[in-house]
Amino acid sequence: MKRRRCSLASTQTGWWITDDASGSLGATLRGDILEAELGDGAVTVEIHHSALNYKDALALTGSTGVVRTTPLIPGIDFAGQVVNSSDPAFTAGEHVVLTGWGYGETRHGGLGTRAKVEAQHLVRLPASLSTFEAAALGTAAFTAALAIDALEKSGTTPDRAPLPIAVTGAGGAVGSWAIVLLAHRGYRVVAVTGRSELEPYLRSLGAEGIMPRSEILQATQRPLRAETFSGVVDQAGGPLLASLLSMVASNGVAVACGLAGGVELSTTVMPFILRGISLVGINSVTQPPEVRERVWSEFAKSASSFPFTEIASSIRLTEALATAPSVLAGETRGRVVVEVGP
Ligand SMILES: NC(=O)c1ccc[n+]([C@@H]2O[C@H](COP(=O)([O-])OP(=O)(O)OC[C@H]3O[C@@H](n4cnc5c(N)ncnc54)[C@H](OP(=O)(O)O)[C@@H]3O)[C@@H](O)[C@H]2O)c1
Repeated sequence: MKRRRCSLASTQTGWWITDDASGSLGATLRGDILEAELGDGAVTVEIHHSALNYKDALALTGSTGVVRTTPLIPGIDFAGQVVNSSDPAFTAGEHVVLTGWGYGETRHGGLGTRAKVEAQHLVRLPASLSTFEAAALGTAAFTAALAIDALEKSGTTPDRAPLPIAVTGAGGAVGSWAIVLLAHRGYRVVAVTGRSELEPYLRSLGAEGIMPRSEILQATQRPLRAETFSGVVDQAGGPLLASLLSMVASNGVAVACGLAGGVELSTTVMPFILRGISLVGINSVTQPPEVRERVWSEFAKSASSFPFTEIASSIRLTEALATAPSVLAGETRGRVVVEVGP
């Protein structure tokens, strides 16, 4: 496992979002960020690997919905090594991962070489996971794991799911990890994608079949369609989720994770009152430490079987802004890991 030594550099490099007089946001790569500009936080982390999440792509391209304060270093998750800590919970040299908690939205995040964070927001990285692997998993796999928890809490366990689980945004980061984790637990999975050319990749992750997004969207919209899925793990929202609700089998559950296809949800109560289905939402940002510890420990146990190199592609920190439009256009596959370290 590759582990790096802490750097003693006094200035840091990172993407820096500011707003102009008209309120427009812009991102530049600064190489002269002072420690004092990194904000408060008991633990200083040298970032080895970050990621370009959907939210990060929005922030870098000027979305005010994600950037809640300026100036801001974007980056909602990262993995690295503790440089120093005034909180006794962590000591220098420990490897850590952080997802959510508003980093990269309301306070400086992970698209830079260093971050100052609160100890309760960190998870100590299990020894079997490298910082690259932690970033390859990141918010996406954490969210997918929470979605599977939600399915199972609602009674849709592998042995009580006679039909497949539909995973939307299958070619993206959350969708790819959802396929892997569902298949790993013994669920049958159908990958719903806008990119049929990804079929070999999606099957390699564990999908037993592929369904084009257009096939679901173009079908006649009826309040109830044939019972096709025992559950749904959805990254899209909008019309795709609305259509899929009408295809969930009796007592099944749809788990809403994202909004890649829109924030509106136009549906009827019919699937809820005639089939008893549930719609559950996931918010990965503010999950308590015990949930995070459990999920990361489960990742560590299964990591040797995870297809990291299939799911993760790497870019350099300098390439984050130029790559952001491809993420928003749904053109990237799996997870985009950002190589940050020294
Ligand atoms: N709830 C949470 O805590 C949480 C955590 C992480 C992410 N999210 C959200 O989940 C969503 C996915 O995140 P991600 O990191 O997986 O993003 P991503 O890697 O960019 O993947 C998004 C995928 O959505 C699909 N897509 C694109 N346009 C679409 C459209 N118009 N209709 C339906 N599907 C479309 C594409 O997959 P195909 O080409 O295969 O169809 C694309 O690859 C985002 O909205 C993100 O903000 C929420």
